[in-house]
Amino acid sequence: MLSSLVLLLILTAHSYRETPAMKLILTKKTLQYGSQLGTQWMRQKVQSVSIPQVQGSVSLGLLGNVDYVLSGMTVTRCILPEPSVQFDEGTTGLQTAVTGLSIWVRGRWNTHYGLIHDGGSFDLSLSNIRMSSAVKLGSDYMGHLTISSAFCSAQISGITINVQGGGSPLFKPFVDRNKGQIKGQIEGKICPEIRRLVEDLTQHLTAMDVSVSVSHNLIMELPLTSAPSVQSSILHLDFKGEFYNAQHHTEPTFQAKPFTLNPHGDYMLHLGLSEFSVNSASYAYFSAGLLQAQINDSMIPPSSPFQLNTSFFGVFIPQLPKMFPNMLMGLHVVAREVPMFRFTSDEVDLGLLASVKAFAIHPNKTLVPLFKLNVNSSFVCKVFFSQGKMRGSAMMNTVTLALASSEVGIFQTTSLENVMKIGMKMMFLPKLNAKLSEGMVLPSFHQFHLDNPVVKVEVGFVAISSDVTV
Ligand SMILES: *[C@@H]1O[C@H](CO)[C@@H](O)[C@H](O)[C@H]1NC(C)=O
Ligand SMILES: *[C@@H]1O[C@H](CO)[C@@H](O)[C@H](O)[C@H]1NC(C)=O
Ligand SMILES: *[C@@H]1O[C@H](CO)[C@@H](O)[C@H](O)[C@H]1NC(C)=O
Ligand SMILES: *[C@@H]1O[C@H](CO)[C@@H](O)[C@H](O)[C@H]1NC(C)=O
Repeated sequence: MLSSLVLLLILTAHSYRETPAMKLILTKKTLQYGSQLGTQWMRQKVQSVSIPQVQGSVSLGLLGNVDYVLSGMTVTRCILPEPSVQFDEGTTGLQTAVTGLSIWVRGRWNTHYGLIHDGGSFDLSLSNIRMSSAVKLGSDYMGHLTISSAFCSAQISGITINVQGGGSPLFKPFVDRNKGQIKGQIEGKICPEIRRLVEDLTQHLTAMDVSVSVSHNLIMELPLTSAPSVQSSILHLDFKGEFYNAQHHTEPTFQAKPFTLNPHGDYMLHLGLSEFSVNSASYAYFSAGLLQAQINDSMIPPSSPFQLNTSFFGVFIPQLPKMFPNMLMGLHVVAREVPMFRFTSDEVDLGLLASVKAFAIHPNKTLVPLFKLNVNSSFVCKVFFSQGKMRGSAMMNTVTLALASSEVGIFQTTSLENVMKIGMKMMFLPKLNAKLSEGMVLPSFHQFHLDNPVVKVEVGFVAISSDVTV
């Protein structure tokens, strides 16, 4: 159960103490679900658990010591009540307690008393075991999650042992007299075993990579930016949540702004992703020169009201068909600045500044530069969640055109602007929407499904509230 929780937090790191662009809140409901899953899992697995051997020595006073070994123990039956688990503010971690645990074990016993060796099988039952433990959650300087044992106690109320075989008629009374000592030996094994599990888990976490590959071009860095904190029984985790180009690791020219994610409703988790996180992905594409496109006449459907040729453009630039009669044209569209998303209440605005360089294409394929337009456009996006990914759909808001340079003389851009609007709706918007609907996987959830997530765009960030199923 602890391990399923930890898988949920899969994370590691590069830089520490930055402003987090991603926040995760886990509630008591997560723990209840984790506890249920963990208990079911344990009930199935307990029969195949190998129990470390127990050995001890019992003094017979002047007659010396009897050494005993209990080995080859397997669980034959188990009553495993669901533990109570909670986030604890005091330890900044997790507290687990279970009472009424009973367990039936079969195994071998061996005794050594001087030269006398004896052995056989036994059935042992431990009843009404009470266990409680606390682990502290923290983070290392790399931003990995760390777990350490803060407290552990284990008491066994009752023990019965039936021995068979060997010289057991003699061994039996001995066992009955020393049951208390055997119980103590077993009790003493429980907490060290739990501590060992916790250490294994920490080693595993510390070895994990803090970067997650999102796509061919994008990686996301997910180190913790601060130690986990617990407030009113919920766990808060802050992550860097920044995207980088997979080939060039360059920092954007803008910075993350702090935001506050408030839990509401009865959900297992709340995830907040800031504007910065999304814009860092935009920057990663832009800085790698990926935000540009060539548009050719062949890409424009024949049914389109406009065509990319000099006769058609002659309507707006009368001198053009005189200078370059009957020639096809090409457009090179490049983002001028990083496209920036701005999260406001319930919607996302996208500002896109591009330049469009127009060429005439000679029959011998030589490109002749004609003019360059600066296009300022803005879009309004809706954000939604489907099939495990956060996706968007955009509508065009404004488009303005200005002539940036011209090899064919000055011309008016007003009517060209209207054509550009149509062109963008026909050519660009479907591409943008295809990109937005591809969506973004949330990397930490690959083995979990978000159950009916609710997505809400807030000022500066988007919040996803959801239950989780495995
Ligand atoms: C568009 O045309 C130019 C010039 O002929 C060519 O270099 C380019 O590869 C074409 N682009 C596409 C996407 O067809
Ligand atoms: C140029 O486009 C117009 C439509 O605007 C079309 O009628 C004409 O055939 C095209 N010319 C060439 C050379 O492709
Ligand atoms: C292509 O044709 C144009 C006009 O006829 C000419 O100016 C240019 O030099 C030619 N380019 C090549 C590479 O042949
Ligand atoms: C386009 O945006 C740039 C940069 O924000 C601004 O300087 C320019 O005036 C805008 N042009 C138009 C036509 O809106």
